[in-house]
Amino acid sequence: MPSKINLQILETADEVAVEAAKVIAEMVSKKPNTVIGLATGSTPERTYEELAKIHKTEGLSFAGVTSFNLDEYWGLSGDHDQSYRYFMNQHLFNNIDIRPWNTNVLNGSAVNPNLECQAFETKILASGGIDIWLLGIGINGHIAFNEPGSPIDTRTRLVSLSQSTIEANSDGRSFSDPAEVPRSALSAGIGTIREARKLILLAIGEKKAEAIAAAVEGPFSAACPSSLLQDHPDCTFILDRGAASNL
Ligand code: PGA
Repeated sequence: MPSKINLQILETADEVAVEAAKVIAEMVSKKPNTVIGLATGSTPERTYEELAKIHKTEGLSFAGVTSFNLDEYWGLSGDHDQSYRYFMNQHLFNNIDIRPWNTNVLNGSAVNPNLECQAFETKILASGGIDIWLLGIGINGHIAFNEPGSPIDTRTRLVSLSQSTIEANSDGRSFSDPAEVPRSALSAGIGTIREARKLILLAIGEKKAEAIAAAVEGPFSAACPSSLLQDHPDCTFILDRGAASNL
């Protein structure tokens, strides 16, 4: 099947952040009640900085926006400094005027993970579905915590992290030791993500080049979860030269 993924290849990581922020800002300015999907990790940090800058200097309001995050470590509460709720508060939510009650990050310390995941899916539906979902990609091709082998129709659920992800997430920037990284997470499924009306996936640096080539040019296969975006009607990968170097 020919891939429908649109490619935008820019020179630098900075340009990737500026472009991604521009796409999101344009959508929010056209549709103030945009339902936006968000990601964590090192890749979107600069994009969130840009969005906060646009909010501050251009007055773009996020007061009508509802957000849903891709995933959360299982076992960490939102006030743990390595939780994704904490990350989002620090990097974005505290720096714009989004209403805290309109930000949805899965609760990693919920009593019942299945109910937590079902409630997340129900809330996405009740909000009218995701208009735009910002994504990253793992070096093993994962999207959110959908590791290689995750089927195309998966929904939000409790998943196990692969060894490659545990190592990538203990590189010193977050957890300093693989032993500290939680072994499982709550994650939106590939089916959940594919239902977003628009997807933008960001990748920066040569370490992502192999995963990007597999996602864009490899077979449409659960072996590389991000390749399961190839038939999405509106999916753009925004890449720097390094991430695009195997294409
Ligand atoms: P990163 O993580 O942005 O920190 O590289 C991306 C991912 O694992 O999806």
